[in-house]
Amino acid sequence: MTRIVAGNWKMHHGPPGAADFFSRFVPRVDSIPVRLVFFTPDVALAASIASARVPAEFGVQNIHWEAAGALTGETSAEMAREAGATLALIGHSERRHVFGETDAEVNRKVLAAVRAGLTPVVCVGELLEERRAGRLEEVLRGQVGAFVGSLTGDREFMVAYEPVWAIGTGETATPADAAEAHGIVRKALGELGHAPILYGGSVKPGNAASLMSAHDVDGVLVGGASLDPDVFAGIVEATPSARS
Ligand code: 13P
Repeated sequence: MTRIVAGNWKMHHGPPGAADFFSRFVPRVDSIPVRLVFFTPDVALAASIASARVPAEFGVQNIHWEAAGALTGETSAEMAREAGATLALIGHSERRHVFGETDAEVNRKVLAAVRAGLTPVVCVGELLEERRAGRLEEVLRGQVGAFVGSLTGDREFMVAYEPVWAIGTGETATPADAAEAHGIVRKALGELGHAPILYGGSVKPGNAASLMSAHDVDGVLVGGASLDPDVFAGIVEATPSARS
């Protein structure tokens, strides 16, 4: 399976920043051995698509589950699709822990993404205290169990395992930690366990290869290190080109 290298720009890079990113990124990655995905801010999606000039897919970082309505500030899955997105991040840890998104809401968003023809990339991951309390498997099974029944084998989806304690902290899960958690997620997916599972949390050029070589790790979801074109290109270059 071709490895997936996804950047989540979070609330960084408006349209000029996106254009500048790609003007510097494109010359660095002319032959890309990976499936490249960018989750840009909604307002930078069009500028990103227009300036990418490399084979890449684009997604939004959040959607609302309604198709339309009096919901100020929200974007529906259908609108994201119309704007050129083909994927949607759902249930990112910042959505869950900063904005209070629940498992039930995550599930509604997964259904909305599927309805609109977007590939859901559903984020799961445990808090440090949950890991320390030995609750890793329980937490991951609960988060996956909340949405897996809404998916079928005929629609693409992905899961991103992002341990909350490793996001933006410089703390990275070891390849063995990632393999263990990905194995739990794959088992919890049951007959949909063939879906790609990405690792996210302080991925850098220096640790990307070992994380992506870990068992059950199909790619990475990169936050901070996806913002700088040279650093993100370093992760693309470090990607093992084929599944071992
Ligand atoms: P960092 O790579 O900055 O730790 O962020 C990870 C993340 O949240 C990607 O979605």
